[in-house]
Amino acid sequence: MSTLEENKTVGKMVAEDYRKAEVFKRHGIDFCCGGNISLEQACSEKNADLEMVRLELEEIDNRQDPPEHDFESWELDELVDHIVGVHHVYVKRATPFIKESVNRVKMVHGMHKPNVSEISDRFDALADELKIHMYKEENVLFPFIKQMVAAKRSGEPLSVPFGTVQNPISMMLHEHDSAGGELAVIQELTEDYTPPKGACGTHRVSYGQLNEFADDLMRHIHLENNILFPKTIALEKELLNR
Ligand SMILES: [Fe+2]
Ligand SMILES: [Fe+2]
Repeated sequence: MSTLEENKTVGKMVAEDYRKAEVFKRHGIDFCCGGNISLEQACSEKNADLEMVRLELEEIDNRQDPPEHDFESWELDELVDHIVGVHHVYVKRATPFIKESVNRVKMVHGMHKPNVSEISDRFDALADELKIHMYKEENVLFPFIKQMVAAKRSGEPLSVPFGTVQNPISMMLHEHDSAGGELAVIQELTEDYTPPKGACGTHRVSYGQLNEFADDLMRHIHLENNILFPKTIALEKELLNR
């Protein structure tokens, strides 16, 4: 791995090639909310073998299958549409079903297995948090990002209603940290989404749904934290300095 590559943050590595997320997931390294650190630091925090992680990342570089979409090269308004159309739609569609199954498991097994009650309560709280969070993105921050892109294209001046776009972004980052923290607790409570021996069908299905939800949310937060937000801050600087 080159020195240039080594100096990149974990989030940047995943932004450039999402296939690398699988390596970080395998080693318990957070590339979305906590992705703003070097590979060395991330490995030392998680007691992961740095050399092994480097080798696995290199293996991905040498793989024949093409990297996924190059989101870093997308226009920001396209990226916003992608995030809303794919990830916000998924969260809105999936949460009622997952709420229902984790709640059913809580009703049947909660008396004897306190973990399943806590999982259900925490997922309910997370789903409610995300609903408000996405509302703010869709109605405040994302329309403003689209206005910025339009101002760039037209050459018109930009007026920033909230001082700087860094203010709403800081709020969104804070909310991502909170959602990421909730997910980490759910992952621990479910023992990495592994249903206990002899678990009933609904219990197994609910863990599968939670696992899929966590994967989608990590990808979603990654696109915002590591690509959309830094590029938005850079675009604001560019527009204000022209
Ligand atoms: Fe979002
Ligand atoms: Fe978000």
